[in-house]
Amino acid sequence: MKDTGYYAIGIFRHKRDHNLGSLWRSAFILGAKYIFTIGKNYKKQSSDVLSSWARIPLFHYETADEFFKQIPYDCRVVGIEIDKNAKPLHDFVHPKRAVYLLGAEDNGLPRDVIDRCHFLVKLPGNHSLNVAVAGSIVIHDRVTKIETDFPVLQK
Ligand SMILES: C[S@@+](CC[C@H](N)C(=O)[O-])C[C@H]1O[C@@H](n2cnc3c(N)ncnc32)[C@H](O)[C@@H]1O
Repeated sequence: MKDTGYYAIGIFRHKRDHNLGSLWRSAFILGAKYIFTIGKNYKKQSSDVLSSWARIPLFHYETADEFFKQIPYDCRVVGIEIDKNAKPLHDFVHPKRAVYLLGAEDNGLPRDVIDRCHFLVKLPGNHSLNVAVAGSIVIHDRVTKIETDFPVLQK
């Protein structure tokens, strides 16, 4: 089996549980190894029709400090945010081992959290996308760029 790495995805202090449910559904289908919340726990949502939390681990971190302390060995944190330092997604080379971090629906990722990310990526457009949509596009980009054992992409 090839060493294609792995990834995880989560949201910092999300506001709406149905967005998390939609993101978990994409993450599970697109091969995430785990999912997580920071600062606010997840409650079961009908938008996660697959109950992804029952199929891949769902971690909760109380604070950003706790989250950054628990990043797996030699894994990179990729912040997903509209920011002057963010790289456009289409040019981005995804790290083999990556944790993707999205911001809350109202305030996005705070500056002190952005500054601790190893990489920042942004999507095109003049307005913010829905957080679950933004996360799903980024992980779709990853699974199309990195050769993977993800079943749907096998030819
Ligand atoms: C609805 S947006 C937050 C909008 C917030 N009002 C702001 O302007 O900071 C929620 C999250 O979705 C992600 N997001 C939405 N659109 C994005 C884009 N074009 N590029 C990168 N991330 C995006 C980011 O993680 C963002 O924190």
